[in-house]
Amino acid sequence: MSIIFHKETGQFHLYNDQISYVMGILPNQEMGQLYYGKRVHDKEDFSYLVEYSFRPLVVGTPGKEDFSLEMTRQEYPSFGTTDLRNPAFEITYENGSHVSHFQYVSHEIYQGKKPLEGLPATYVEDDGQAESLDILLRDELTKVELCLSYTIWRDYPVITRSVRFFNAGQEKIVLRKAMSLSLDLPDHQYDWMQFSGAWGRERTPIVKELSCGITAIESQRGHSSANQNPFIICKRKKTDEFQGEAIGLSFVYSGNFLAQAEVDTYGALRLLMGIHPRNFAWTLQNGESFQTPEVVMAWTDKGLNDLSQTYHRLYRKNLTRGMWKEKERPILLNNWEATLMDFTEESILKIAAKGKEAGVELFVLDDGWFGERNDDHRGLGDWKVNLLKLPEGIGGLGRKINAMGLKFGLWFEPEMVNEDSDMYRQHPDWILNVPGRERSLGRHQMVLDFSKEEVVDNLYQQMHEVLVDAPIAYVKWDMNRTISECFSIGKAPEEQGRVYHKYILGVYSLYERLKKDFPEILFESCASGGARFDAGMLYYAPQAWCSDDTDAIERLKIQYGSSYGYPISSIGSHVSAVPNQQTGRSVSIDTRANVAYFGTFGYELDLNHISDEEFEEVKKQIEFMKQYRGLIQSGRFYRLSSPFDSNICSWMVVSEDQSEAIVGYYPIMAEVNGGSHRLYLTGLMEDAQYTIGKNTYWGDELMHIGLVTSDHVDEAFCPNGDFNSRIYVLKSVQNA
Ligand code: DGJ
Repeated sequence: MSIIFHKETGQFHLYNDQISYVMGILPNQEMGQLYYGKRVHDKEDFSYLVEYSFRPLVVGTPGKEDFSLEMTRQEYPSFGTTDLRNPAFEITYENGSHVSHFQYVSHEIYQGKKPLEGLPATYVEDDGQAESLDILLRDELTKVELCLSYTIWRDYPVITRSVRFFNAGQEKIVLRKAMSLSLDLPDHQYDWMQFSGAWGRERTPIVKELSCGITAIESQRGHSSANQNPFIICKRKKTDEFQGEAIGLSFVYSGNFLAQAEVDTYGALRLLMGIHPRNFAWTLQNGESFQTPEVVMAWTDKGLNDLSQTYHRLYRKNLTRGMWKEKERPILLNNWEATLMDFTEESILKIAAKGKEAGVELFVLDDGWFGERNDDHRGLGDWKVNLLKLPEGIGGLGRKINAMGLKFGLWFEPEMVNEDSDMYRQHPDWILNVPGRERSLGRHQMVLDFSKEEVVDNLYQQMHEVLVDAPIAYVKWDMNRTISECFSIGKAPEEQGRVYHKYILGVYSLYERLKKDFPEILFESCASGGARFDAGMLYYAPQAWCSDDTDAIERLKIQYGSSYGYPISSIGSHVSAVPNQQTGRSVSIDTRANVAYFGTFGYELDLNHISDEEFEEVKKQIEFMKQYRGLIQSGRFYRLSSPFDSNICSWMVVSEDQSEAIVGYYPIMAEVNGGSHRLYLTGLMEDAQYTIGKNTYWGDELMHIGLVTSDHVDEAFCPNGDFNSRIYVLKSVQNA
């Protein structure tokens, strides 16, 4: 890995074993993009890649009419001079103009990577893991500066990017758009993949052909959302899971975002990713700065599985933090679907005791333990235990759970308040709302104004009190409504354009303070299931509740879609009761577990209410997961067959040393007199022998001839007709 600056030509070459990224100072002293893709030899001069081309009606730069920014690939384009495509940023200057001219001033190359203050970001554990480049640009007329930051990683085909604005001039400026990344590519022969959905069906992959005009996804909901995920892939048309070129852009941020592709009329492609510019206006006085969040840009020429594996490894090792980042996750039992808010200490202890008997390690008490929270109309904001339900408090309950030999976890929803709460009665101005206008409610609740420090401080104090008083090993941090009427009561008009971003900074700062005080707590983020499942959250909470839809068959799709951008160790997945609460579907306890294994794994039901035979199965499932969770949560995950395209879903995980693997195989609907099926495994050693049960196969056999899976006419495999599944455990002969 290296970053080279060629002084003579003003060109930078960032490269590692797999990728090259070349950019250079353009004739007008702005920064130009020259190449991004597979590693190429370094050389002094790539300036032939700046293509000068005169086109009728195109505006040329002063004194050089055959040079137009509109025809030039740039690093951080502005709007309003000779490029009239969508820009990476917009500044309004004091005279009302919005034209900028940011020219190269200097640069710094250094080992390692600097943290981004107050923001989540990938980090290095030692400076040898990455090398960074900061390029300083200045708008001479106004003395506003911007710094483009790039980090190239030694072990990943990844470049991370962010931008910092600094107002060194005397006049005030308003930043109206500040993307974290702009990437100009010479052609648009890509398919765009986005991960869209809604509550209960998050992260469905959607593929679109890029063509002239704009393709975009966004969230303006105040959180990254279930509707669109801040992650996109641009893949070549022939790229599939196992081969071909693709670029991924993942936004390390949890609030409003925009990811956009613009194909111009000459076929060039501009990708933008950053904070959504709508309702964003950040005033910078002299001496003030604004730091954008980070984008992680990954590249592959080996297909989408390889691209995903890059994100999985990077996010496990260099984004999540603390003692849980690579630790096997505890098998938990959560009471939500078992009791909703209707529980007593006695009923909770009964559920926990049965969990302990089955081998569960952590019991989690969900919503309903505080204030007057007997239904979802009240209580949020008052984080004091309800002694009518839990007479010995959270501390008392936690200690009883601990005495059973279980760890204890607790649910919070810190960002919300109900009208019927002491907090709202005392602080009606702590919510986001426009005075004099009606308040919208979502799940009967309002959003607290986390852009205000006093609000964040109050939540910190309340949560801190609970967490010091009780033996809490895990926190589920929920967030159950979208932000609307985004207005910070009492703040000046020019501050209102900061509110969405400051809200998220407030959430991050509360996480940070609690993580610092309680480094041993495992945090799981949640937002009505997976409505804030993003890389920003993973910096604070290494796992996220993936969806409120716990139906195993639905979960195949949701977990499959989530795996494109996020590691298996981050995917919260539980076995729940049947008929399923969301779909009414009944799926065997085997299939429910066979799906939930590929995540953090746990149960979300009352184990007292299942049959003795099922309970015996549960015990075996927990034993199985204890044995294999290390492999599942940290191995290489491969998608083999998509539930979006066929009746068969399949995936597998291979250990880093390729000596072990686990395959999940899910024929969704029963076939009558169906054809024969084979599963072509991958990622194994060609020359090693693997056992599967009593049989032994060569690695190459399993990958090229395939594993025959249509031997399923036997009763044991097909007890219920539909929704069957099978787990294959592979061990290389030395390890068997
Ligand atoms: C939404 C979450 O996704 C559920 O798991 C549960 O915690 C409820 N909120 C509780 O209100």
